[in-house]
Amino acid sequence: MELSKNMRNSIFLILLASLVLSSTRCKGGVTSTYRRRLEASVDMPLDSDVFRVPAGYNAPQQVHITQGDVDGNAVIVSWVTPDEPGSSVVLYGTSKHNLDKMKTGKHTQYKYYNYTSGFIHHCTIRHLKFDTKYYYAVGIGQTVRKFWFKTPPEVGPDVPYTFGIIGDLGQTYDSNTTLSHYESNPKAETVLYVGDLSYADNYPDHDNNRWDSWARFVERSTAYQPWIWAAGNHELDFEPSLGEKEPFKPFKHRYQTPYRASDSTGPFWYSVKRASAHIIVLSTYSAYGKYTPQYRWLEEELPKVNRSETPWLIVLVHSPWYNSNTLPLHGRRDHACHV
Ligand SMILES: *[C@@H]1O[C@H](CO)[C@@H](O)[C@H](O)[C@H]1NC(C)=O
Ligand SMILES: *[C@@H]1O[C@H](CO)[C@@H](O)[C@H](O)[C@H]1NC(C)=O
Ligand SMILES: *[C@@H]1O[C@H](CO)[C@@H](O)[C@H](O)[C@H]1NC(C)=O
Repeated sequence: MELSKNMRNSIFLILLASLVLSSTRCKGGVTSTYRRRLEASVDMPLDSDVFRVPAGYNAPQQVHITQGDVDGNAVIVSWVTPDEPGSSVVLYGTSKHNLDKMKTGKHTQYKYYNYTSGFIHHCTIRHLKFDTKYYYAVGIGQTVRKFWFKTPPEVGPDVPYTFGIIGDLGQTYDSNTTLSHYESNPKAETVLYVGDLSYADNYPDHDNNRWDSWARFVERSTAYQPWIWAAGNHELDFEPSLGEKEPFKPFKHRYQTPYRASDSTGPFWYSVKRASAHIIVLSTYSAYGKYTPQYRWLEEELPKVNRSETPWLIVLVHSPWYNSNTLPLHGRRDHACHV
């Protein structure tokens, strides 16, 4: 979606639901020549090129960035080292050959059933200048890997900016085509990701190696552009039969959000401003009834939206909080509500 001056004061509310269970035929206008294939899409095998592990001992992999504060002066850089913790340092700077600044992050690790994750690093770099290209490096010794990103322009009403929207990506051959299609647009600067990342939960024991392969697959975009994360049903990974009772465990360890910056009390609902947009992220799979922390946060957030400053209001949510669908949607039966 492109934001421009002409579109000032437009209301743009995105309620994107995943289409997995949609059962009705829509007779809406045709906006694209794309036709989804009828056959189910097949996951790319683990030895596919897109899942290749970068060369070198303990080389950083699965590099991804996201916005790290409300206004866009901070970036959270995340990556995984497979063999040992290594370094949590990010070197960065505005000159490709002189990464003169440095920030030390932290690493974490988690277990899921019989899977143990690699060392997951998160490092927030702050006080970045607006509208500036930064180069950064992670890793040490022989296995340093370098990337770059561009910070957004200062928040304001007349600031054009181009977002892409992706959700339900998974790691099939079609996922690869989808990502390539997004990448083919030279204007796209940031991805609004509406949930359902790896679909690792489709595998026996929610094989978390598929979380790793997914992050290696999307690295070609996520290392260079922020992806703004919203949680979907495939991030829940709630599986008491495996002894896994903590919802969102893999997602929470792997994908950080700047939720504290927007006074949120939980990582799955938060807001950021970027260029001329105020972006609110909500979670359908966290409690959202009246008096819940998420509901209360939203109540306090909405009055903060200043349409003179950010004429665009974008709401990211994987499936709507309230709808009239009486089918069990995404493993939850309590979605059907009368509004
Ligand atoms: C985890 O358990 C499954 C069978 O339930 C087995 O196939 C797999 O090899 C095990 N993985 C590890 C890392 O032990
Ligand atoms: C995925 O897409 C990239 C870019 O088009 C291509 O180089 C690669 O071979 C594709 N991999 C698979 C497994 O389809
Ligand atoms: C809303 O934004 C405008 C333009 O940036 C600013 O002048 C105004 O003070 C803001 N209003 C509030 C209530 O913060």
